[in-house]
Parts: sequence; structure tokens; C-alpha cells
Amino acid sequence: MSKTINVLFLAAEADPFIKVGGLGDVAGSLPHALRALSNDDIKLDVRLVLPYHPAVKAENLRPLELFTLPRSGSEVEVEAFETTLNGMPVYFIGGEPIRANGSVYSLDAKLDAEKYTFFSLAALELSNHINWQPDVLHANDWHTALSIYGNLAKRWEAGARHVAGVLTLHNLPFMGPDISALLESYGIKLAQTDLPEWARVMPMPLGLWASDAIVAVSPGYAGEVLTPEYGCGLNEFLELRKDTLSGVLNGIDTISFDPAVDKAIGINYTADTLEKRIINKGVLQERLKLPHNPNVPLFSIISRMDVQKGVDLAFTALKNMKRINFQAVILGTGDPKLEEAARNLESLFPENIKAVLRFDANLARLIYAGSDMILMPSRYEPCGLAQMIAMRYGCVPVVRAVGGLKDTVKQGETGFVFEKAHHMSLVSAIKTGLKVFADREKWRMIQRAGMAGDFSWEASAREYQKLYLSLIK
Ligand code: GLC
Repeated sequence: MSKTINVLFLAAEADPFIKVGGLGDVAGSLPHALRALSNDDIKLDVRLVLPYHPAVKAENLRPLELFTLPRSGSEVEVEAFETTLNGMPVYFIGGEPIRANGSVYSLDAKLDAEKYTFFSLAALELSNHINWQPDVLHANDWHTALSIYGNLAKRWEAGARHVAGVLTLHNLPFMGPDISALLESYGIKLAQTDLPEWARVMPMPLGLWASDAIVAVSPGYAGEVLTPEYGCGLNEFLELRKDTLSGVLNGIDTISFDPAVDKAIGINYTADTLEKRIINKGVLQERLKLPHNPNVPLFSIISRMDVQKGVDLAFTALKNMKRINFQAVILGTGDPKLEEAARNLESLFPENIKAVLRFDANLARLIYAGSDMILMPSRYEPCGLAQMIAMRYGCVPVVRAVGGLKDTVKQGETGFVFEKAHHMSLVSAIKTGLKVFADREKWRMIQRAGMAGDFSWEASAREYQKLYLSLIK
């Protein structure tokens, strides 16, 4: 007999509706990959729910019936909408706390607290209005973690049926603001938890505490969060929950990210026609107004401008490579100080370095297709997507041995890996890479090995499916 697992997948962002970072890529792909596993024995009815941020782009939204959440003796209205994307029902939760907050993630912690507490609790309530009940709540990061806590708190009170809670950790340091008063205003009590005292009022720790399973976005990161260096003060707590903690590597959208068909690049190519890549390099150099030179190594940084990503280390490394002839392109936005540093670097080396400080998905594709090495010296990296996309395009990653980077890039085989979060370690990894770069045949082998890797979502989706099954049996 066939079995259906209903999964409500909650996220702050999801491609193509709204995307700020890697979480948007994951939430845009994983639910579809899970649904695609459905067969005669097991059907995965995964549905996505997102906040109706003012910047959301969605078509054919059908309003659902208004409902309310009780709050401080009064009530807050929830305006929910439904649409479908490739056959998957997608819900949007709107209402005053979401309208009031213009950006997906605000610098104002209070606005974010209001928005995501409301969202998490309203999403929980949604199932009572769509004639569909989840077996699994799958939340992502702090923004939606309270749905799992709220679900547990409701179960104590109402004796409601069991819904399993899965929390995926994309970025542990972001735990969310103190929401204790807010929670109480919605009539949800703070439990006595075995969390460290400071963490008992924050969404991410509360979600971790209440969840049945915790998933880090790579096996490497799952191990790292148990250490004082990366555990952000929750390592001892997570150690107690070790049995429920696992790591599932993210995938990438291998249909969209495919140099054989990508329309945003100069010329399409495969692992067998790698010589054509040089044309993309030329197109890229022209687009960036860099001197046209097929032989000079072209480095790329495609990243949020964030200390997490170690872009400052990369900038210092490039500054320290004066005697090497290279070109580099920096693409991304973020921390104004790092953007400024990127601009300074460009003005120091106007003939060699270009900083493009904006979000530009098409230019990113051309950079993957035309640059020789991508630099990712992250201080921590739960998974990282750029190194996988780069390998698919034959752009060789130079990465720090951390989190998902060390899980996906093999030293000397598919890329170059270094240990210390120091610019000189990056410089020496780049130099090792340059020696290989000088030997065309060896370089091609590295490019081809990276291109042969399987970074599709299917394998990851299978692991999540196994996890769901183990939780609801
Ligand atoms: C966060 C992490 C990144 C990960 C992404 C998707 O942005 O910093 O490493 O790839 O989430 O899980």
C-alpha cells in the first residue's frame, strides 16, 4: 500500500519568489527534489510556506480565507495566499508584522522578531485552513525555528497529534533575537529547557531544543558545531543531542547550472570541449574591461561581502601577490566596509582587478564559465554552493578546509585546500594551484574531475526522505 508523507517546508526565502542568499537556493530546490522522489510506495507531499515579504514576486496568488492568531487579549490577522509552482502548492503568509518589515532580513532586530515569530506561528496554524495536515514540519534556520517550538508547546496543551520537527542548520551563529515576551504575548510559554541560560529566549536554540532531528547542511559542519570553535556556545547542548544530529550536503540546481546549455555565458561547452572555455574568458575580460589575455590566470570571488566568507583574507592575499601576473574579479554585495575594501583593491590594481559590487546572477554565470580559479577562504562555511557551481563549470576552487568546503573539494584532485584562516595560507594554496595551472594537461584533469562530480539534489533529497521516514514510523 502506498504511503504519503506530508511535509510543510518553512523558510524565510526561496528562489524564484525571493532570494537573498544560499538559503533561498536551497529552499527553491530541495522541496521539488523531495517531491520528485515520490513513487508508487511513498509519496512525498512537500509544500512550501514563505512570508509574503513586500519584495516577493509571485503570480496567480489565490487568497485563502482570513484567519487570526490570538495575541495579548486581542488578535492579529493572517492574510494567506496560495499558488502552485511546478505542481507544488506554495503558501504565503501575510499580515501587519510582515508588511511592516520591508526587507527579508532587517537590521532592526525588533522588526525581525515580530515578523518571524508571527510567521512561524501563523504557518503552524495554516494547516487548519487548507484541509491538509503535515506529518513533518521542516524548518530552516532561526527565522522559522519557532514553528517547531510552537508545535511542541501546543501539543502539551491540546494533546494534539504528533508532528515531527526537523530543523536544518544553515548558519548557526544567527540565532535570532530575544523573543520571550513576544512568545508569551501569543500565549506560548517558555519551557524549562536544558539550553544555556542566554539561549533560552532565542528562536534557533528553542527550535533545536524542540526538534526531533537536527540537520547541518554538510557532514563537516555537523561535526564542527560540536566544537567550541564553531558551536557558538551551543556545542555542549548539541553534544547531548548528538543522536539526533546529522549532516546532509546541499545540492545545486544541475539543470540550470550547466555550461552545456547555460544561456548567460558566451559559448556553451562540456568536459570534452574545455578548450572553448577560453572564449568565455575573453568575453568576461571584455565585459569587465580587463586586458584581453587568455594565458593570465583569472581569479574570481563570487560571494556575499561578509567576514564569514573571508573575503577580506582574499583581498589581502591578492595585495600580497604583486610579483605574480594575474587578473581577478570580485562580484557581490554586503558589508559596506568590505565593499569599500574591494573598491580600494580595484583602484590599487586597475589593470588587474575589477570589483562589481552588485547582485548579478548572469554575470556570476559568465564568471564561473570564464575564470580559472574561484577563491573561498571562508572562516566558517556550513555548506557553500559557489564551489560546487564552479566545479560544474570547470572553474577550480581554492578553499579553506572548513564545513562543506572540505566535504566537496579534494586537495589536488578537484581543487586546492588550505587549513588556516590566514591570507598567507591562501596565497600558498593559490601558488600551488598556479604551478598546476601552468601544466595544461594536469589542469584539464582537475577541471574534468570537478565537472564529473555529482552535486545534484537527488542524493540529498534521499537522505532527507530517509530521515522523515524514521521520524514518523
Ligand atoms: C548559509 C551558509 C552557506 C550555505 C547556505 C545554504 O548561507 O552560510 O554555507 O551554503 O546557507 O545552506
